[in-house]
Amino acid sequence: TILVLDFGSQYSHLIIRRLREFNVYAEMLPCTQKISELSWKPQGVILSGGPYSVYLDGSPHVDMAVFDLGVPILGICYGMQELAWINGRGVGEGDKKEFGHAQVHVEKGRENDPLFAGIDDFQVWMSHGDKLSDLPTGFHTVATSGNSPYAAIAHDEKPIWGIQFHPEVTHTARGKEILKNFAVNICKSSQNWTMKNFIETEIERIRTLVGPTGEVIGAVSGGVDSTVAAKLMTEAIGDRFHAILVDNGVMRLNECATVKKTLTAGLGINLQVIDAADLFLGKLKGVTDPEKKRKIIGNTFIEIFEEVAEGIKPKDGGEIEFLLQGTLYPDVIESISFKGPSQTIKTHHNVGGLLDNMKLKLIEPLRELFKDEVRQLGELMGIPHDLVWRHPFPGPGIAIRILGEVTAEQVEIARNADHIFIEEIKKAGLYKEISQAFAALLPVRSVGVMGDQRTYEQVIALRAIETTDFMTADWYIFEAAFLKTVARRIVNEVKGVARVVYDITSKPPATVEWE
Ligand code: XMP
Repeated sequence: TILVLDFGSQYSHLIIRRLREFNVYAEMLPCTQKISELSWKPQGVILSGGPYSVYLDGSPHVDMAVFDLGVPILGICYGMQELAWINGRGVGEGDKKEFGHAQVHVEKGRENDPLFAGIDDFQVWMSHGDKLSDLPTGFHTVATSGNSPYAAIAHDEKPIWGIQFHPEVTHTARGKEILKNFAVNICKSSQNWTMKNFIETEIERIRTLVGPTGEVIGAVSGGVDSTVAAKLMTEAIGDRFHAILVDNGVMRLNECATVKKTLTAGLGINLQVIDAADLFLGKLKGVTDPEKKRKIIGNTFIEIFEEVAEGIKPKDGGEIEFLLQGTLYPDVIESISFKGPSQTIKTHHNVGGLLDNMKLKLIEPLRELFKDEVRQLGELMGIPHDLVWRHPFPGPGIAIRILGEVTAEQVEIARNADHIFIEEIKKAGLYKEISQAFAALLPVRSVGVMGDQRTYEQVIALRAIETTDFMTADWYIFEAAFLKTVARRIVNEVKGVARVVYDITSKPPATVEWE
């Protein structure tokens, strides 16, 4: 395992991501981590970049004990400046900030440096204001760039390297090879992080944690995370895992039935489906405020879940001890990444209410995985391809895609329109290219004509976006003919719709959802 100490760079998590691409396992901890408090010994340490200046008061510094571990160390950007600061302090403000591409070449006579094995002249991504003004004591130059005479440095005797550029971003051609040279060749980290191995070790871990009689409860939604987590639990403890699917009345067309069939008949998961559509719709009556809708749906869900959990009596008379949550690694990273000297640790609130009331222990089998790893795992465990690649769907469902009041009639219209849109997207082979797509129902009436009849009905707004992180998003550019087909079908097939529009706003300033 490689330890990545995070100094707060926006790229830190990418270091872990890249290492995993060649099956090396790495863990990230804040740069303030005390080495004596680590419960494991890393095979190598990477010091990440960060937005600070090493020479200013209050800037973060690494625990010096990291140098007593006797393992290879690689400092990236701020991490390199930290090495220089510790070894002679030759760091200053660069004459100009360097941001973007640069060409780096390995110095003559340094071709054998193991960090750059097989690499000499390459393009890198630079993003820094400070730079080394001098070689730190005991170091030599390994590579230079036009603006950075110390683009890469290495210690004369110890396995310590510093690089000014970011090998973890894809703009650095061969960055992955450099990280691989470090982790695999220099640190001798084994390349056994595969989803196949993960299944085995995680199942063992779950069995040990839960014990021979323990029981676990968890909510499933039909999304990839909860399904993969539920399948893992089922493989580990069989029917001692209880999955609950709550039909809140605002899921998509046929979704509840489809999910039920896939999870029970297909995947053998011990599932209870609770039909609470009327209860949810009853509580949503007359509510138009988006945040109120969210709150009502969230609270009602917790109420039902707790009631169902109470009713589950384990065979041996024991009690349910654990709550399953499909937390992924990005959430974990978000909560442990370094956020400045006055760091506060964020906790997850997804199931906060449940945890407080039910006194359950959390079990999070996916907490080490990135989304694409969860998908890979899903495919390996035989979860249907369609489910594995399903677009994300918000917890409050169609309720936040119906502007204004949510009624059974409105849900019906939004659902049917959404179904046609998604069906056409799949038919056109665009589903995977698009990150998320849906239909929103606008309670605005407009005039239309159907046959010889004047109509006066509502509007469907189609939304389709491309994004990598859902923090920013671009609207998807469809062929005109495609939009024409979808619009024609919706107006013809969905009663209550007179007009279809396509949302061409990016995020920001708009959000993905309409509410
Ligand atoms: P926004 O609308 O915030 O959406 O740009 C970004 C992503 O988050 C999803 N989303 C939600 N998911 N509960 C959820 O579980 C919510 O209340 C919620 N609101 C937005 C949205 O679908 C998109 O993927």
